[in-house]
Amino acid sequence: MSASAKLKLGILGSGRGSNYRSICDAIEKDALPAEVAIVLSDVEDAGILGLADQHGHAHQFIAPGQFRTKLEEAAESSYIHALQQAGVEWVVLAGFMRILKGDFLRAYTNRVINIHPSLLPSFPGLAAWRQALDYGVKVTGCTAHIVDQGIDTGTILGQRTVLILPDDSAESLHSRIQEQEHQLLPEMLRQIANGELLANQPA
Ligand code: GRF
Repeated sequence: MSASAKLKLGILGSGRGSNYRSICDAIEKDALPAEVAIVLSDVEDAGILGLADQHGHAHQFIAPGQFRTKLEEAAESSYIHALQQAGVEWVVLAGFMRILKGDFLRAYTNRVINIHPSLLPSFPGLAAWRQALDYGVKVTGCTAHIVDQGIDTGTILGQRTVLILPDDSAESLHSRIQEQEHQLLPEMLRQIANGELLANQPA
């Protein structure tokens, strides 16, 4: 990736899409040299698809198939096809609640980025903020990382910390972690676009 090239992003999300919105905000403020080529969701009425509509970005619901935590093989092919048709170079998992496997990661090797709401390797998996609260740690945060075959195990790109307060609820903690996610994810993408991070990844 040459310095300052515009990243062509594909966004996958299952929820309200606040991380996607933070990417759009950074692009609109000229703080991130990127364009969103397409937004895909496995949830037909996900907020992220409505947001994509508002931003004028191509968007599509692609049914995930019969499994609860991963994509059926045919669905995975449809996701890859839609991303490739849109010319996507980098895939951002912005709250995409399914595990991506072999074919997907072979199509986008080292080019899938996830944002996770804990300081990995602590608390991989679901509701990581609640795991942190239940464990009783005093500091948690968020992690941007490359997606590999494991669950929340790929190369760490960057992290932000969040202090856990004595009266935190799961909701209050998650909301402060999300504030940090909204800073971290666009910043990591900016660094990739500017060749400051992952400069030696294959094109
Ligand atoms: C975020 O907390 C992210 O860490 C996790 O899923 C959530 C997505 O939130 N992977 P949003 O849809 O971006 O608001």
